[in-house]
Amino acid sequence: MAKKFIAALSDSSLFLREWLANPQRTGSVAPSSPMLTSAMARWLPRDSDSYVLELGPGTGAVTDALLKRGLREDRLVAIEHNPALACHLRKRFPLAHIITGDAWQMDELLREHIPAIESVGAVISSLPLLNFPKAQADALAQKIRGILEPRGRWVQYSYHITQGRCRGGDDFRLLASKIVWLNFPPARVHVFQK
Ligand SMILES: C[S@@+](CC[C@H](N)C(=O)[O-])C[C@H]1O[C@@H](n2cnc3c(N)ncnc32)[C@H](O)[C@@H]1O
Repeated sequence: MAKKFIAALSDSSLFLREWLANPQRTGSVAPSSPMLTSAMARWLPRDSDSYVLELGPGTGAVTDALLKRGLREDRLVAIEHNPALACHLRKRFPLAHIITGDAWQMDELLREHIPAIESVGAVISSLPLLNFPKAQADALAQKIRGILEPRGRWVQYSYHITQGRCRGGDDFRLLASKIVWLNFPPARVHVFQK
């Protein structure tokens, strides 16, 4: 219990430090709450052999929820732009494929690092899309579409809770949209299907 608390505290202080260094890109001051991470993790693919691509894992709050929900660690690929956070994630999840890089280059990064992966069953993203122009969010959505298996899902949260669809979601079928109040700040989880 004490070990868990200390780990959570140390993740929060690392997150805050990275936010102070780059607030725009880090996107929030603290890791997501357990309520938000479990709302994301419930959309894992049914096929346990499918790979899952996580974008913007930060200190690993959503990653941890995905693994607790049953995702095999070796089936998780995560792209994190911040090298300090990527290094932290490699220590925390040694069997996962942690790539330091820009999510907008997911196709090239996957080809370069894990050429065996042709598609993924789900993309779970915490990228702060509101901090990017709409055209850039649309470009990301096209890349996600290209990498998803048929009927694969894109799960994205956004702090713009009044919006029915997040940036980039226009060309997808909206499967679910739910507000999670117990997070700072409250967030909306959008689930899209190809
Ligand atoms: C709002 S935080 C979410 C962190 C974590 N998933 C959570 O929910 O607690 C957004 C994360 O996206 C990362 N990020 C921002 N732009 C990125 C990009 N272009 N490619 C990959 N990661 C990016 C940030 O470094 C940060 O870790």
